[in-house]
Amino acid sequence: MQENLFEMPRADETAGRRIKELVELINKYDNLYYNMAESPISDREYDRLFDELKALEAANPELKLPDSPTQRVGATPLKEFRQVAHVKPMLSLANTYSEEEIADFNRRIENELDGNENIQYCCELKYDGVSMSLHYRNRVLELAVTRGNGTLGDDVTQNVRTLTCLPLRANEIEIAGRKIENFEVRGEIYMDNADFLAINQKREEEGEKTFANPRNLTAGSLKLLDSSIVAKRPLKMVCYYLDVEGVAIDSQFEKIQILRSLGFPTGSRLRICRNLAEIREFIEEQKRDRNALPFNIDGVVIKLDSARLQEIVGYVARSPKWAVAFKYEAETAQTLLKSITLQVGRTGVVTPVAELEPVFVAGSTISRATLHNYDYLLEKDVRPGDIVIVEKGGDVIPKVSGVVMPENGERVSPEPFKFPEFCSCEKHSLLVRPEGEVNFYCNNPECPWQLRRRIEHFASRNAMNIDGLGEKIVENFVKLGWLKSIADIYSLKDKKSEITKLEKWGVRSTDNLLKAIEDSKKLPLHRILYGIGIRFIGEGAAKILAKNFSRIEELQKADRDKLLSINEIGEKMADAVLEFFSNPIEIEILERLKVAGCNFESETFSQIVEDSAFSGKTVVLTGELSTMTRNQAKEMLEKFGAKVASSVSKKTDFVVAGENAGSKLAKATELGVKILSEEDFLAMQ
Ligand code: IVH
Repeated sequence: MQENLFEMPRADETAGRRIKELVELINKYDNLYYNMAESPISDREYDRLFDELKALEAANPELKLPDSPTQRVGATPLKEFRQVAHVKPMLSLANTYSEEEIADFNRRIENELDGNENIQYCCELKYDGVSMSLHYRNRVLELAVTRGNGTLGDDVTQNVRTLTCLPLRANEIEIAGRKIENFEVRGEIYMDNADFLAINQKREEEGEKTFANPRNLTAGSLKLLDSSIVAKRPLKMVCYYLDVEGVAIDSQFEKIQILRSLGFPTGSRLRICRNLAEIREFIEEQKRDRNALPFNIDGVVIKLDSARLQEIVGYVARSPKWAVAFKYEAETAQTLLKSITLQVGRTGVVTPVAELEPVFVAGSTISRATLHNYDYLLEKDVRPGDIVIVEKGGDVIPKVSGVVMPENGERVSPEPFKFPEFCSCEKHSLLVRPEGEVNFYCNNPECPWQLRRRIEHFASRNAMNIDGLGEKIVENFVKLGWLKSIADIYSLKDKKSEITKLEKWGVRSTDNLLKAIEDSKKLPLHRILYGIGIRFIGEGAAKILAKNFSRIEELQKADRDKLLSINEIGEKMADAVLEFFSNPIEIEILERLKVAGCNFESETFSQIVEDSAFSGKTVVLTGELSTMTRNQAKEMLEKFGAKVASSVSKKTDFVVAGENAGSKLAKATELGVKILSEEDFLAMQ
C-alpha cells in the first residue's frame, strides 16, 4: 500500500507535466491556425485547453513556462522600456533609385571579387514596417529589441510575444547534424493596409488621434507600455535574417528556408537572380504587383546570396556593401484641381478639400483628396486651376503633394488661395481658428452644414438606422426648414402630406420613411448615445456607457469621478460627456426625444447571454440575410458576446454567409474559417 503511495507523482509533478503538455499542444494549434489556416480541433475544445492551462498556471505560478501561450494576451503594464545593446549592430541599407545604380552596385561587387566568383543575388521585398530583433534561447523567445539607434534598442518582449504569427518556441531542427538552439532572428513588424484603415476609421469615430500610415500605427503600437492593448492590434512580422550560435549557414536563401522550418513567417516573393536582367525583371514584377499586396512595400532588397562572399565584400560605415535597397517612388498622377471646397464636420471643424478631375493612381480612381488644414494649403500653395500632383505611397490615403508650375509661370489663380473668412453655408458664420490649433471652426451651432452632418449621423445605420434619411434628403428637409434639430425628425409625421407631394416622393416612400423613424424609437440606449454626437463618444464608447448606466438620466447625473471609474473612459471622453449634459440646447433636444418616445433605457448589455457558442468569438457577416438586417444580426451577435469584424482573417472564428456573398466568403474558404449559412446561424442561437 505504502509503496504505491510513494510511486504516485506529487501533485505539482502532475501539474507540471500537464502544463507542459498543454503549452505544447496549444502552441501547435496556434501555429496551425495562424500560419497554416488549419484548425484540427473545435474552438470550444481549444478554449477548454486554454482555460485549463490558465487555471493550472494560476494555481502553480512557479510552474509557468517561458513559452506559455497565455503570455500572448498581454502582461502587467510596464513603466518604461529597458534599453538593450544589440549583439551585432542593426545596419541600414544604401538606397538606389535607378537601373544605373543597380548596375554600379553589381560592378562594385564584381570588382571586389575580382570576377573569380559565381555571383548570385537573393532578391526580396522591402517591407515598409518597423525592424525588430528577436533572441531565442533553447528555442524559446527570450528577448525582442527594437532597432533604436542601431546599437541600443528598447526591450519590447512583452509586446512582441502577443504576435500570433511568431513561435514562442521554435521547431526543433538540425543543420549539418547540429541542433539549432540559440539564435537571433530579424525582420520587419507591419500591419496589413485593410487592418490599418479599419483601426484608423474606428479611432476617428471615437475622436482619437489617427495615424498617417500603417508603419506609424505599427511603431505606435510597439511603443505601448500595456501589452494587452498591443495584443488587440493585428501586427504581423516577416523575417529575413538569421544568426545561429555556433552554426554557419551558407547563403541568404538558405537562411530563409531554415527560418521557415523553425516556424517563422518569411516573405514568399523571394528569388535568386543571376544577372542584371533577372534583377531588373524582379524589380519590375514586384512594382507591377505591389498594389495587389495586402501590405505596403517601399521597394525591393538585393542581397549577395553567399555568406562567404558577403564577408569578402564587407561593410562600409553602417551599411553592408553586399546588399542594396531599390526604392520605388510613391505612385503619382497629375490632374486638374477644379476647386477647393470646405467641408464642415458635425463638430464644426472645417477641412479644405481638393475637388479633382478624376484620375487613376495606384489602383483606384481619385476625385477628391483632403488638403488637411490651412497650414497645409499654405505650405503647398495649391490654387484652383492648378495641375496638381496626386500621390499614393506608403500612406495608403491619397494626398495632393505639389503643383506642376506652368512653364510661363502664369497660374489660373494669380493669388494664393485665401482661406474663406466665412462658412459657405447660408448663415455665412464667421470661421475662427482657436489659438494654437491648425483647424478653423464654424462656431455657429445653427450652421446648416453642421446640422446636416449631425442629422445624417443620427440617422446613420449604426446609430438610429433611419433608412431613407440620406444626405440629399437631409439637405432638402433642412432647406425647407422642416429639420432644425435632430429632435425634429420625430415631428416629420406631421408633414406627411407635404412630403408625399415632394418631387420623387410618393405615399409608399413617405410611409417607409415614417416607419423607419418610428422603429428607431425602440433601439437601445447606446444607439442614441452614439447618435446624439457627444464629442469623442464613438460607437464603442457609447456601448460602454450604456453598459454602465441603465438609463440616460443616470448618465446625466454622473460626475467626473464616476465616469473616470469606468475602465475604458478616459479624461477627454468624460469631459465631453459632462460638457454635453451641461449644454441647455442639448438637454432640450434630449427632452424632446424623450417626449417623442425614444428609448432611453439600456437593455442589450444587461442581458448578454453568457454561455453561447458565439461568446468571445470573432464573427464576420457577409451577403444578404433573409430574416434580418445586417445590423440586427450584428446586435444579436454582440448580445451573445461576439465581436463582429468587417474583414476576414485567420483570427475570424465564423463567417455568416447570406445570399450573394462574395470575396469575404472566398477568403474564408481559402483560410479554412468555419462558414455558417443563415440557417446554421439561427440554429446556434
Ligand atoms: S536586410 C544589413 N531585408 O529596411 C541588412 N531589410 O533601409 C539590413 N527592410 O533596417 C536589413 N525589408 O528595417 C533587409 N527584406 C529586407 C527588408 C529590410 C525591409 C528594412 C530594415 C532595414 C531597412 C534598411
